[in-house]
Parts: sequence; C-alpha cells; structure tokens
Amino acid sequence: MIEAKLSTGSHDIVRATLPVVRAHATEITGVFYAAMFDAHPELLDLFNQGNQATGAQRGALAAAVVAYADRLTDPDAAPFGPIAERIAHKHVSLGIRADQYPVVGRHLMGAVGTVLGAAVTPAVAAAWDEVYWLLACELIAAEARLYQQAGIDAATVWRRWRVAKRQDEAVDTVSFTLVPDDAGVVPDFVAGQYISVAVDLPDGRRQPRQYSLSQGPGRGSLRITVRRVRGLDGAPDGAVSTHLHEHVHADDTLLVGPPAGETTLRPDGEPVLLLTAGVGITPAAAMLDDIARTDPTRRVVLAHAERHPDRHALRAEMAHLTGGLTDAEQLTWYETGGDRTGRVDIDAIPLPAGVRAYLCGPMPFMSTMRAGLIRRGVPAERIHAEVFGPGMAG
Ligand SMILES: Cc1cc2nc3c(=O)[nH]c(=O)nc-3n(C[C@H](O)[C@H](O)[C@H](O)COP(=O)(O)OP(=O)(O)OC[C@H]3O[C@@H](n4cnc5c(N)ncnc54)[C@H](O)[C@@H]3O)c2cc1C
Ligand code: HEM
Repeated sequence: MIEAKLSTGSHDIVRATLPVVRAHATEITGVFYAAMFDAHPELLDLFNQGNQATGAQRGALAAAVVAYADRLTDPDAAPFGPIAERIAHKHVSLGIRADQYPVVGRHLMGAVGTVLGAAVTPAVAAAWDEVYWLLACELIAAEARLYQQAGIDAATVWRRWRVAKRQDEAVDTVSFTLVPDDAGVVPDFVAGQYISVAVDLPDGRRQPRQYSLSQGPGRGSLRITVRRVRGLDGAPDGAVSTHLHEHVHADDTLLVGPPAGETTLRPDGEPVLLLTAGVGITPAAAMLDDIARTDPTRRVVLAHAERHPDRHALRAEMAHLTGGLTDAEQLTWYETGGDRTGRVDIDAIPLPAGVRAYLCGPMPFMSTMRAGLIRRGVPAERIHAEVFGPGMAG
C-alpha cells in the first residue's frame, strides 16, 4: 500500500505543532466527544458509554490521531497500518458509514480550536484538517474493503439473532449460542474474531459491546462467552454484561453486527502458544476448536491464568479439545485454590521453535507476558494481542 503524504506546507506545520497537540490530545478528544454528542445525541447509542465514562475511548482516539500525524511527518515513527486495521475492524463491527466522517471531522477540528485557542491560525487549522482527511480516507477505504469482503454494507450490518442456548460456564460467566432470527445465513469468520452485540437497557439507552466468538467457524451458529463485570470501589456494575446475565435467556433475540477483528489464527500450521488470563480465554477457545477440527497434528501450547478454578470458563471443553490433538499441552495457574498456584511463570511455558503467540487478558498481564516472550527470544512480530477495550497492547 502507498503511504499517504501531507502537502509540503502542511508537513512543516504539523511537525512543528505536533508536540502541543500531543500534550493536549486527550483534552481535545474530551471536548470533541462532548460537543459531538451534544449536536448528535443519536450517536450516544453507537458509542460505548462505559468507555466514555472511564476515558478509555478518548485516549484511544487521541493516541491514534497523534500516531498517524507522527508517521506522516517522521519516517522513523512506528507504522500506522496495524492501528488502522484495528480501528477499521472495530468500525465495521459497528456499521460505521463514510458519511459519518464529516461529522467527526467537524467536531474534532472544532475541539482543536477550543482547546488550543489562538495558536490555531488558519494555516494550522488547514494542516490538521489535511491530517484528519488523509486518515479518514484510509479508514473509509479499509472499511469499504471489509464490507465488500463480507458481502454487506454499513446500513445492513445489524441483524437479529436468537439465543438457541444459554449455558453457565463458571462463576459470573455465561455462554450464549446464537442463530439467525432472520432469513440470513451464519457468516463465515476466522477464529479470534469478535462480534458487536447491542442491547436495549432498561433506561432506554441502546448500547453495543464486543464479544469474541468462543467457538471456531463451521458450527452453524455463533457463540459468545460473557463474564459479568462487577463494579469495584463504588464504580457501577457493567451495563451490558449485567443485562445479558440478568435478562437474556434462550429464545430471546439480540442485535448482532458482523464478525470482525484482525487478531486471528493464521491457517499456516505453525506451532502456536495461546496465552490467556480470565475471560481472555474466549478467542483462544475458538482457535483451539478450529485447530482441533482442521489441523489436529498442529503443535499447540495453552497457558492460562485464573483467580480460582471456579472462575475458569470453558475448562472441560478445552481439555476435551486438547485431548483430541496429537501434540498439545495445557498449563494453568490459579491465584488460589489450584495445584499450580501463583502468577504465570513465563519461563515454565514450553516454546516450540517458530512459535506464534496469541495473548488475551488484562493489559498488565499482556505487557508482562509479551516482555517475557521477547526476553526468551520470540520475535515481537510473532506476538499478537487482543485487547478487550479500546486501543492496542504496547
Ligand atoms: C474485541 C473485544 C472482545 C471482547 N470479548 C469479550 C469476551 O469474549 N467476553 C467478555 O466477557 N468480554 C469481552 N469483551 C469486553 C466487553 O466488550 C465489555 O467491555 C464487557 O462486557 C464490559 O461491558 P459492560 O457494559 O458490562 O461494562 P461497562 O458498563 O462498559 O463498564 C466497564 C467498566 O467501566 C466502569 N464504569 C462504567 N461507568 C462508569 C462510571 N460512570 N464511572 C466509573 N467507572 C465506570 C465499570 O465499573 C466497569 O468496570 C471484549 C471487548 C473487546 C473490545
Ligand atoms: C479519522 C476518523 C476516526 C478515527 C481516527 C477513529 C478512531 C477510533 C479509534 C482509535 C477507536 C478505538 C478502536 C479500538 O477499539 O481499539 C474507534 C472506535 C470507534 N469509532 Fe472511530 N474513528 C474515526 C471515525 C469515526 C466515525 C466517523 C465514527 C462514526 C460516528 C466512529 C465511531 C466509532 C465508534 C462507535 C467506536 C467504538 C467506540 C467504543 O467502543 O468506545 N469513528 N475509533
């Protein structure tokens, strides 16, 4: 892919103003969201209001725009491709449309002006507008490709699915097996992908969340496995996970977006390490299911961390799948209550030559594991991480 380029005048202005924009980026995105929701309250139903309350989405948007401007003006900056891919997949899972980009652009540029004030001369505003539109065009093109590959368009991504089965998996963790409730088919997907699920909450808000598919493709249904989020230290309980646990049962229907996500199992037969913690086990369960069905001689190492055996979701299912593989082993660490207690010992995990690692769990867990794998000689480009929130793992 040819990388976009700023015009010469804009290049120098963006380079010169990047430090001040970077320093104020989350303030700018905070002002941006407030102004955009004020002018377009209908968008409140599209954005995860939990991520708005915690500031996670503000930070992810700020980081993405700054990383893109950095790359445009410094050839040594980290490539933007992986960030664009992550955003495009997330947007497609939510049905974001090209005609919504001018709305975001207008309010984002307005917020730059509000926060930076007189420093935003017409030339500075024009240069940052150029950055926005180069980025927007890249995302719109990437999203158009994904919609086309899936044979859908942004207007028709949300479909109604029926809960064919609801199953308790562990403390606070439930699986929902979904089948189409319209005349449509079960879409193809790759193990590791997620779907967006939107629910109508009792207060009248509609809210979407992403859930990894916890079974591989080819089963005639989609399954998600949801851990109920309990509010800690005065924070509220998770809105959507609590709703799904308390109000959604067999035969109920849910609004579901198309499978999306770029952290997926490669079908190349390479040895894999699935290294997970807590409910981060879900994409690994789909990968293991897929390997068991399509490539049972593949070398697989599973390593999982959980607080207590009672919370270990999909344990029996994954042990059964692993038993059907010819070259697999499974290690589990429990903080309390199991044979192997304590935190994951990265040095105890067997690393086959040429291994590709897939990580999923809380950010601190993934950072520690990633550093340990790199120390043990796994190249960074062979380590993939799925983040259960906005942004990328570092
Ligand atoms: C790609 C991807 C895949 C995922 N896969 C899975 C999966 O397989 N299984 C799974 O269980 N989850 C998964 N998740 C996480 C899931 O999408 C939700 O984030 C999770 O269910 C919590 O949503 P919620 O609505 O229950 O919580 P939210 O209401 O969004 O709350 C989230 C957190 O924010 C806090 N919070 C909310 N409002 C406030 C406030 N006003 N002040 C302070 N704190 C606040 C809450 O206390 C809570 O800790 C995935 C996420 C992504 C992005
Ligand atoms: C250049 C323009 C844009 C940029 C740089 C951008 C950037 C981002 C980023 C970084 C994320 C988080 C991705 C992740 O999960 O890691 C995101 C999510 C999202 N974006 Fe965009 N976006 C843009 C345009 C738009 C537009 C036009 C819309 C439509 C109104 C939109 C709606 C959303 C929504 C609803 C989410 C999910 C938010 C959440 O879950 O909290 N975005 N975007």
